[in-house]
Amino acid sequence: MDTQNYSYFIQEFKKIAKIDLSSYKDDQMVRRLENFIRNKGYKDFMELGQLIRTNKELVEELKGYITINVTEFLRNEKMWEDFYKVAIPELAKGKRKLKLWSAACSSGEEPYTIAILLKEHFPNLDIEIVATDLDAVILEKAQKGVYRKSDIRAFDSRILSRYFDVVDGDFLKVKDEIKAKVRFERHNLLEDTFPKSVDLIVCRNVLIYFKDDAKNEIYTKFSNSLTDNGVLFIGATEQIFKPEQFGFKILKSFFYQKQKEGK
Ligand SMILES: C[S@@+](CC[C@H](N)C(=O)[O-])C[C@H]1O[C@@H](n2cnc3c(N)ncnc32)[C@H](O)[C@@H]1O
Repeated sequence: MDTQNYSYFIQEFKKIAKIDLSSYKDDQMVRRLENFIRNKGYKDFMELGQLIRTNKELVEELKGYITINVTEFLRNEKMWEDFYKVAIPELAKGKRKLKLWSAACSSGEEPYTIAILLKEHFPNLDIEIVATDLDAVILEKAQKGVYRKSDIRAFDSRILSRYFDVVDGDFLKVKDEIKAKVRFERHNLLEDTFPKSVDLIVCRNVLIYFKDDAKNEIYTKFSNSLTDNGVLFIGATEQIFKPEQFGFKILKSFFYQKQKEGK
């Protein structure tokens, strides 16, 4: 790897795109960007770093390239069962309204999954979902809430007809009653202020791309964002090392509960 030129590129990219790639794991990011450089026929990171200073389109293209948007409805289905059978009953004790945050929500499948499951299993619970991502383009798709029918395999036909409208033969649109529960906003987990008084944070399959220092800082901020007894739900390949250092105890695999101060 050409360390010096990569450092130059990330420094320029941070200035221009306001995204600090030094917090992302180098190996993965370099490999990805080297592919980009090769496909474009550029020479190296130095040339890419120079080009982004004047080429706005290239900056936008790069932003789309570095954010891996893979997602799906009900991703890792078993974990969603724990979500509505364990986490939500725990949170809903004595509360009629819950504030939820789907961080790094990509094209919206995750926050809509939350809204649909809660409507199904807790129809009387008042909920507010804030769904955020770094990528403004993917958020536009999320906001539209239109998906190819073949990409919504996880839900059965009853759920599909109850919560989606047919747009044309191949596409379904999330019904307005579900869309109304979700507010999409652009948010950079490495830069921006975190929402406050959140009962449940769902942040899955993004921290795996970050270096340990960045990850730990984000866990600390998540803990500060949560209400006492609030819950953090993470991805299937993720695990928090020594959760107590962030004030968490394990509620269930992949679900961490914030301990009340002094407990
Ligand atoms: C693999 S998707 C995960 C989507 C969803 N959470 C899931 O598990 O299916 C990762 C998302 O993280 C977003 N992302 C990457 N870096 C980010 C950052 N610094 N702040 C917020 N979101 C980020 C990407 O734009 C992408 O949409």
